[in-house]
Amino acid sequence: MNPFNQFRIDGQAIPFTPGQTIMDAALAAGVYIPHLCHNPELAPHGSCRVCVVRAGGRLVSSCTAPAAAGLEVESATPDIQASRRTILQLLFVEGNHICPACQKTGACQLQAVAYYTGMLAPHFTHFFPRRDLDASHPDFVIDFNRCILCELCVRASRDLDGKDVFAISGRGIASKLVIESPTGRLGDSRFSADDRAAHVCPVGAILPKRGGYSVPIGQRLYDRAPISTVGDVAANAGRTTP
Ligand code: SF4
Ligand code: FES
Repeated sequence: MNPFNQFRIDGQAIPFTPGQTIMDAALAAGVYIPHLCHNPELAPHGSCRVCVVRAGGRLVSSCTAPAAAGLEVESATPDIQASRRTILQLLFVEGNHICPACQKTGACQLQAVAYYTGMLAPHFTHFFPRRDLDASHPDFVIDFNRCILCELCVRASRDLDGKDVFAISGRGIASKLVIESPTGRLGDSRFSADDRAAHVCPVGAILPKRGGYSVPIGQRLYDRAPISTVGDVAANAGRTTP
């Protein structure tokens, strides 16, 4: 391995090519760094902060920070896992994530990353926001209670589907996912089941109708193996019918 094109994560040498981020290089080398808003097919977003690492002594999001020769990166250390756990706990209480009642349980990245970080309870007080459910589309349903505002569907619809079906409206705690259609409902938008945006949601917010339980609970992707060994739901599409 060329020492000028490598850095270390928790002591392990990771090769990289110029222009790669720490996340890109780590995943290519088979080293898992938890993430929710990252998808290698889409431009980095840097919003969920679950991918935080300490690089050269500074906390950075690994999906946006460039890899650099000689960089020493800490990822799976107890303090960084604790930071990620806090972020996840906040995400859980901001929405209504009732895992046992969710069609996506066992194939949900939020749930799987929470397990990876050792999260056992939400810790913070639940907001219990009142949010809608949109079942107007013939093939998909959107449950806004579970949206974590990662903007993967926004980016996929815009950059891969060329449709701009989704957008984020509002600021701060008032931020919410909105649908571009005359009524604001999915059924009146240009969204279709074969859009890439239909298959990138890391949680149970954008869900196919029918067949939701064709893979029984207990036999789903993250029921069988931890996310650190099998990766994203989107990367496993077809194996992970939620
Ligand atoms: Fe992310 Fe899913 Fe919400 Fe879209 S619906 S912003 S993909 S969590
Ligand atoms: Fe890096 Fe979300 S995966 S900030």
